[in-house]
Amino acid sequence: MGQVLSVLDLRKVYEVKRSVFSVKKDIINAVSGVSLDLDQGKTTGIVGESGSGKSTLARCILLLERPDGGSIYFTGKDLLGLPKDELKALRKKMQIIFQDPYSSLNPRKKVFDAIAEPLLFHGIVGKQEAGNRVIEILKDVGLDESFANKYPHEMSGGQRQRVAIGRALTTGPALVIADEPVSSLDVSIQSQIVNLFLDIKERTDIAMLFVSHDLNVVRFVSDEIVVMYKGRVVEAGTKDEVFLNPLHPYTKMLINAAKGEFFRKDDEAAFDGDRGCAYYPRCEQRKPACRDAVPQLTGSKEHKVACFPEG
Ligand SMILES: Nc1ncnc2c1ncn2[C@@H]1O[C@H](COP(=O)(O)OP(=O)(O)OP(=O)(O)O)[C@@H](O)[C@H]1O
Ligand SMILES: [Mg+2]
Repeated sequence: MGQVLSVLDLRKVYEVKRSVFSVKKDIINAVSGVSLDLDQGKTTGIVGESGSGKSTLARCILLLERPDGGSIYFTGKDLLGLPKDELKALRKKMQIIFQDPYSSLNPRKKVFDAIAEPLLFHGIVGKQEAGNRVIEILKDVGLDESFANKYPHEMSGGQRQRVAIGRALTTGPALVIADEPVSSLDVSIQSQIVNLFLDIKERTDIAMLFVSHDLNVVRFVSDEIVVMYKGRVVEAGTKDEVFLNPLHPYTKMLINAAKGEFFRKDDEAAFDGDRGCAYYPRCEQRKPACRDAVPQLTGSKEHKVACFPEG
């Protein structure tokens, strides 16, 4: 299996004004030294609660935003060091699927055009073949050919997301990043779309990053799991290792929360997380040492954790 993506020590910092009138700025380490590898045909689930940096990581990997540090190797090429024309050629091999398909589809364009355009633009098919290819793609995502003539507003949320997925597949991507692709859908529809992702995974050798705060969804589609907390990876490993043998207290809490057990979110504002472990204020297993230094991500390829050992 070839490696499609290798992210090394990626960083993204935002500076935000405290208020409209304020000259003081807060610094947000949205992504703070994240590394991950992804092979052909594999899906890595990225989990973590709101604000943990999942979307920022996704946008930085696809260079929709310029990272402030680190490197991104895509099919062996250093994306941050590539000349523009080479980057342009690689971009069509990386696609993103967003949470809300309504905002990623042009409301004035019929499904046919939404899918045919990238096909023609990238010279994947000629005008003559475009019609057939669009119908094939619609079939691949579980829609019959009558959908080609529909506008986004004439479809359900699930159908629109199928179109957005089909559109992302037109260029034959090596990497697809799906950022909360089922979160805006009714629960009854979610499993259909999750199954479509599983289908695509089985039929193609696309590498996928699947971002979701829903552990049950992530567990269903992923081979590997990356757990983020406040911009850092706190645990990573194979799906079974992370779900059956979670090591980080945060991962344990997330898994319990997904089972419906509630947890208490303590006041984090009083704690300066730059010095110690960011999870310290909420951690049930914290020790004095956790206040003083950030634990590094260590372990094997199958299972890594950023937590000081017991004792
Ligand atoms: N354009 C931006 N400008 C300033 N701060 C930002 C920007 N985008 C994200 N942030 C901040 O960076 C942090 C990470 O945000 P991000 O959207 O990546 O989290 P997320 O894990 O995707 O959350 P969610 O589950 O809510 O989608 C948050 O503190 C957020 O407020
Ligand atoms: Mg997000």
